[in-house]
Amino acid sequence: MPNPVLSADQKAQLSRDGFVTIANIVEAGELETLRSIFDRLFATKAGWSEGNQFDLAGTDQGDAPKLPQILKPSRYAPELLELSPVRRARAITRDYFETDADPIMGEHMIFKPPRVGSTTPWHQDQAYHDPTLDERGLNFWIPLDDTDEANGCMQYVPGSHRMDVLPHHSIGNDPRVHGLEVDGPERFADQVVACPLSAGDAVLHLPTTLHYAGPNRTDRQRRAYIVSMVAPSAQRAVPVDNYWMREKRTARLERAQAAEN
Ligand code: NI
Repeated sequence: MPNPVLSADQKAQLSRDGFVTIANIVEAGELETLRSIFDRLFATKAGWSEGNQFDLAGTDQGDAPKLPQILKPSRYAPELLELSPVRRARAITRDYFETDADPIMGEHMIFKPPRVGSTTPWHQDQAYHDPTLDERGLNFWIPLDDTDEANGCMQYVPGSHRMDVLPHHSIGNDPRVHGLEVDGPERFADQVVACPLSAGDAVLHLPTTLHYAGPNRTDRQRRAYIVSMVAPSAQRAVPVDNYWMREKRTARLERAQAAEN
């Protein structure tokens, strides 16, 4: 089956705004499969001992997770690699960046339980990544439930991808917390655009696009599956001084290091 790529209008919008929405990246019939994989991985704490499941917004020190996240879910559910989001994300990335090279895939899942899921603060994904690269990547954010501002849909600052990587800090200035927040996010408040989506749609963004998702204030779940693809990327002339990553001291990293030994 062919994998449709972005239209000329969608590409222009992505290049102009730093994000674009697309309908139905999940093929008919696969949404229930994705939901059941998602539910199983969180219910079984898949990846916890290797540091791949953790609380994005807390310290993992016994309190119930506020923003549970799983990295590399296809390690625990390899069938994800055969489904439409991964296939289409790969095709769209190769087409958008005009490369035949196979992009490097990253993936995660973020759960905002009803009334519990906390804020994903304003950040640029590149702030987490290799500071020596000028990444040519796309992030595909795919809700498995209908999302709006009340349950934590994605929100963006249009045009922010044209900025370089901005200074970030750990959530609450606590280096034991994995999640990052850009310094001084309130300065962008009057430029924000919310992106409500139906389950199975996607919003795509670039590595330096500022984005945020609010808390889940509803009785509905907000399950999100995120696939990222990075095409061959150039070295930066001067690496980002990402001191906010060098300071990290998370329980997740300790578990990851223990699992490697
Ligand atoms: Ni992000």
